[in-house]
Amino acid sequence: MTMTEYIMESPDEGLRLEKKTDDEFTRRLLAAVGTRAGMCVLDAGAGTGAVARVMSDLVGVSGSVTALDISKTRLAEGKRRAEGVRNLVFHHGDVIHSGLEQGAFDLVWCRFVLEYLPNPQLAVTELVKLAKPGGKVVLADLDGNALFHYPMRSRVAQDLDVLMSALQGSFDPYVGRKLYHFAHNAGLKEIRAHVIPYHLYPGAASSDHLENWRQKLKTVAPKGIEALGSVERYESFAESFMDMLAASDTFYYSVLILVEGLRPL
Ligand SMILES: C[S@@+](CC[C@H](N)C(=O)[O-])C[C@H]1O[C@@H](n2cnc3c(N)ncnc32)[C@H](O)[C@@H]1O
Repeated sequence: MTMTEYIMESPDEGLRLEKKTDDEFTRRLLAAVGTRAGMCVLDAGAGTGAVARVMSDLVGVSGSVTALDISKTRLAEGKRRAEGVRNLVFHHGDVIHSGLEQGAFDLVWCRFVLEYLPNPQLAVTELVKLAKPGGKVVLADLDGNALFHYPMRSRVAQDLDVLMSALQGSFDPYVGRKLYHFAHNAGLKEIRAHVIPYHLYPGAASSDHLENWRQKLKTVAPKGIEALGSVERYESFAESFMDMLAASDTFYYSVLILVEGLRPL
């Protein structure tokens, strides 16, 4: 069904998504884009529904939330975690061929998904069709994910370059800056864009963040080994990358770019 494999696929991905989701940060973003009681909301690429559960709280009993994902495993985990939540349903499908009713949602939300898709523009175009005329579409993704460190070790910079080239089509660290363009091409109106700090490590990252990065590096290891040519080279890259994130004299950041626009009437 999917056009490409999700590069973060791993037996631990559901738990990773749950651990990294900051409910309060997410709630603020959702409130800022106008999520409110009574709305019919779609979370496209919802994973285990950590964000969808916050949405369900915001829209209340008079509203409804649909959590769409391509992974049956994460949807099953999401259903377990949302047991007893009556206004939240889980739907299996691809963001491009979701099978959901067009023009049904007051708000279509898609965060941390477009970065993994080979054709994000097509995904945005299809997501816009799911919003009601006059409804809102929100696209949110990182810009600079994994890339912006100072000081940067030259060997890590070289290896990151090779790795990112090899991941083209299944991961785009620059997708954040492209969201406005996708939204515009998909016909959204009254588009607004926001840049929000996301990763921000002046000095050592917290142990939770370090664990998250360790898991990501483990998951992409097969691709990394292939790209860098040997297990030893990938392991040395991963160790140096983690050392930079844990160093007290190193600054690392990436930003979340959030674009919101309305489907024309
Ligand atoms: C990094 S997670 C994002 C989860 C959540 N949106 C968040 O903000 O934390 C990406 C999710 O997108 C899903 N995904 C990837 N490609 C997809 C596609 N083509 N259609 C639907 N879901 C997809 C993955 O299965 C995964 O659960």
